[in-house]
Amino acid sequence: MAGTGSIPADAFSLKSPYGRRAIGLSVAAAVGGFLFGFDSSVINGAVDSISQDFAINDVLTGFVVAIALLGCAVGAIVAGNLSDRWGRLRVMFLGAIMFFVSSLGAGLAFAVWDLALWRVIGGLGIGIASVVAPAYIAEIAPRQIRGGLASLQQLAITIGIFSALLSDALLAGAAGGADNVLWFGLEAWRWMFIVGVVPSAVYGILAFTLPESPRYLLAKGRTDEARAIFAQLVPPADLDHTIRDLQTAIETDRKNAGVSLRGPVLGLQRIVWVGIILSVFQQFVGINVIFYYSTSLWQSVGFDEGDSFLISVVTSITNVLVTLVAIFLVDRVGRKPILLTGSVMMTLSLGLMAVSFLFSTTNAQGEVELGAPWGPIALVAANVFVIGFGASWGPLVWVLLGEIFPSRIRGKALGVAAGAQWIANFLITISFPAMSSWSLPLTYGMYAVFAALSFVYVAWRIPETKGMDIEQTETLFTHRGAAPSS
Ligand code: BGC
Repeated sequence: MAGTGSIPADAFSLKSPYGRRAIGLSVAAAVGGFLFGFDSSVINGAVDSISQDFAINDVLTGFVVAIALLGCAVGAIVAGNLSDRWGRLRVMFLGAIMFFVSSLGAGLAFAVWDLALWRVIGGLGIGIASVVAPAYIAEIAPRQIRGGLASLQQLAITIGIFSALLSDALLAGAAGGADNVLWFGLEAWRWMFIVGVVPSAVYGILAFTLPESPRYLLAKGRTDEARAIFAQLVPPADLDHTIRDLQTAIETDRKNAGVSLRGPVLGLQRIVWVGIILSVFQQFVGINVIFYYSTSLWQSVGFDEGDSFLISVVTSITNVLVTLVAIFLVDRVGRKPILLTGSVMMTLSLGLMAVSFLFSTTNAQGEVELGAPWGPIALVAANVFVIGFGASWGPLVWVLLGEIFPSRIRGKALGVAAGAQWIANFLITISFPAMSSWSLPLTYGMYAVFAALSFVYVAWRIPETKGMDIEQTETLFTHRGAAPSS
């Protein structure tokens, strides 16, 4: 790109003040991703206690877990609009308040209905964080290192999931079981929610200490403030260029404010469907069944409570590590081979889980057991599934959603695709308790079928976008049997 000629190649490395500042701000903003992961999966260790304490059936249990995801969908949709009006930081602060209130409320819930309400409020916070954190990072990141900084969000999500499952396991361990009283007469499962006030408070404090997004300031005509913030983030030689680029982008957005997503394929443009279908496949392979219900799943097939908590923690560490692998590979190997390999690994491992669960037996006490070798096989298969997902479809769907849409519809199309992802997540999450108590082999068999279909879809429909200029990628999607857009 023009204008970067005088910028030394290492101007944005960790050693340079610009690189360090941009990374620092991005890490701070990615606390939103951490809360996204933490709040969505903290329920994992509490599911069984909740259904026992409130004496609710499978359908209602699924409802309490999944209802937060509808809040997420709404939060994601309103966040974009609100943050254009109020600024990114105020919206971050609003998200932090919602996380805080919902952590306390869920921990002190006295009935299912108020627990569900607190979960929806937390969901609104997650939805907000899922949109504002990546937007803020993209807006403060110097363009030379934007890709790498953007992946911090997925890394933060997986670290959030890990922290939630670790904290669930530690609290249950300290009380000798999730159902036992831990401190101040409250059971361990309640503390699992309450500890969420700590990251929420950190996020709230950060919202006060971070500088406002310069893009937002420019859009509001506060050019001097924006310039002062950018002066900390890009070398002087790049400053004018950066501000000019942004002003052009803001103008283009203004002109496109009325552009619609409508098109010839079932009322939408073909490319919008590509985003929706990728999102739906990412969820229909059942990944969040692992992150929201694994502790209860492993207990239901005979592992004791302590072991089940431990397995969940190990799985979530695996998830963090393979995200690093994906970040390393995505610009080297390309998107398509990674997605295809992931689909194959997921199909085989989910299929193996389905087969293993066929061999569960009921002992004399009426408890379900999954004896050797099928118990260990199911366990290994579940972790291979997480490896397959975490190194491919987990991060890559977010990467693709960021780069496949033409800029004139990017904001709106991303919102629709992310909304579709939350809704698909909701459907899988709400149906799991009832489906799994009906038949675990069939439930996992269904996820395996979706994983196989995801392979076919990518092989057939997704072109490679590695290393391409972001404005070039859209052209790849317009000539595949559809009427070209121009
Ligand atoms: C998905 C989440 C999922 C996470 C697991 C993300 O890409 O959007 O739904 O919980 O990956 O790591």
